[in-house]
Amino acid sequence: MTDNTLSRAWFRVAAIYFVIAVALGIIMGASGDHSLLAVHAHINLLGWVSMSLFGLIGLAYPAITQGRLAVWQFWLHNIGVPVMLAALSAQLKGVAGIEPLIGIASIVVGIAVALFAWLVLTRIAARSNTAVGRRVP
Ligand code: HEM
Ligand code: HEM
Repeated sequence: MTDNTLSRAWFRVAAIYFVIAVALGIIMGASGDHSLLAVHAHINLLGWVSMSLFGLIGLAYPAITQGRLAVWQFWLHNIGVPVMLAALSAQLKGVAGIEPLIGIASIVVGIAVALFAWLVLTRIAARSNTAVGRRVP
């Protein structure tokens, strides 16, 4: 995988979440029905904001986007977030018995976040791994 492949993927997915979250915000504002507030907030924050940050941090420190762990982080986050938020939407709209799925998906997101922290803590130390570092003669 080249340096920027995963960052580009994060930016693409983040942009899609941004559109969905803002559309939901507009619908909430227009309808006066704010029952999906928590879904709107977390699409924005776990989708648009977090994913943009993953992409940007990956550009600053490409080592974070390399290898199997980075791919696991990408997919766990990208499976956990939509499942968690779809299940939360269903629950908020009155579907009974779906809490366990919200719980399981939120743990998947938690594992993805822990993986991200591991990647950051173990891989940003070497200056030669950074985009800035490569420009230094
Ligand atoms: C045109 C764009 C947007 C519209 C129309 C919109 C609309 C709304 C509405 C109607 C609420 C519910 C307010 C309430 O019931 O108290 C809300 C809550 C929220 N929105 Fe947005 N929103 C937009 C963009 C964003 C963006 C870009 C973010 C974050 C990056 C964001 C983050 C939040 C959060 C965190 C809450 C929950 C606030 C709380 O806890 O009271 N929104 N938004
Ligand atoms: C797996 C990850 C996460 C879980 C399970 C989670 C869970 C929750 C829960 C249970 C609430 C209270 C909702 C309510 O009172 O109705 C909440 C609220 C909130 N969370 Fe999270 N959260 C997560 C990630 C995040 C992240 C990454 C951010 C910011 C970057 C964030 C920002 C907020 C904000 C601003 C609120 C208040 C708005 C609201 O009520 O929705 N959360 N979260």
